[in-house]
Amino acid sequence: MIIILNCIDINSHFHYDQGMYVCICNNLTSKKIEKAMDSGVSDTKKIYSYYNCSPKCGKCISYMEDLINNKTSISSSNN
Ligand code: FES
Repeated sequence: MIIILNCIDINSHFHYDQGMYVCICNNLTSKKIEKAMDSGVSDTKKIYSYYNCSPKCGKCISYMEDLINNKTSISSSNN
């Protein structure tokens, strides 16, 4: 029997310093999303593009939008 594993590195789920997983399909964590936003990326589609991927199941999109909106509102309230 041959078992083909998904391309996501299972061990990477346990790297707590990477933040929590937002998009399991594309291995995107909250830290990766913050990094993209710090580089000027400000919407969901561009986050995927920044990491050369695209939504697959789509379950992460609303949560990712919430993260972006929260970070944007915090940043603007600090100015
Ligand atoms: S969890 Fe992000 S596309 Fe599936």
